[in-house]
Amino acid sequence: MSRSARVALKSVVWTACLLPLLMLLLKFWADDLGANPISYATNVLGDTTLRILLASLTLTPLRLLFGISWQMSLRRLLGLFAFSYAVLHFTVWVVVDQFFNWPGMLADIRKRPYITVGMLALTLLVPLAATSTTRMVKRLGGLNWRRLHRLVYVAGVAAILHFSWLAKKGRNDPYLYATILAALLGVRGWHRVARALGKRRVVALGAPSTPKRVAGAP
Ligand code: HEM
Repeated sequence: MSRSARVALKSVVWTACLLPLLMLLLKFWADDLGANPISYATNVLGDTTLRILLASLTLTPLRLLFGISWQMSLRRLLGLFAFSYAVLHFTVWVVVDQFFNWPGMLADIRKRPYITVGMLALTLLVPLAATSTTRMVKRLGGLNWRRLHRLVYVAGVAAILHFSWLAKKGRNDPYLYATILAALLGVRGWHRVARALGKRRVVALGAPSTPKRVAGAP
């Protein structure tokens, strides 16, 4: 991919990722956040976190399915946007919703399963954001870095549980997100199995035949 195409692609992603925040700020300025502004802001930020997180998880399956790799350069950008929105979502909860009521928040984290898994999802994103730099990839080594970054799937599952458990009955979007995540995990799982079977076949075909034992030989 040419440099100008890469710059254009990244500009589109930056715009698409910043747009929900910009819309939210405009609505805040215009005092148009609805009857429950805190809930509205929390939900917009939560929805955006989940969408960007899932978008970041589609990059590798796209490579595995279609053999294209230009989209892989967006991995860090999307991951960091997902993390930033998660932090904003959490900050609104801490500052505006709970008003720094630490004992109340700790009780919520312990008692409300949807808050517990939300915290788990956010916590899992912290080491991933912290190790997203090229320097950290080098320091950890490619294999360890890739292993650590598989945690993003656990964060995805936790985020979807968070949404499913808090959503009111009759909403279909949690199922839609769960189906998308299951499909993405399915592609990765299928690829691993296919690769393992392929390796076994190569070993079986390439294995030298066992030499016949000759009587009296050592
Ligand atoms: C990666 C982490 C997270 C993701 C992806 C996420 C995603 C979401 C989503 C999709 C919603 C529902 C939006 C809707 O109804 O349209 C939501 C709501 C909510 N989230 Fe999160 N969340 C995360 C972490 C957290 C954390 C750490 C907390 C607090 C400890 C939290 C607290 C809440 C609350 C209280 C609501 C309900 C707001 C309301 O209806 O008034 N979330 N979140």
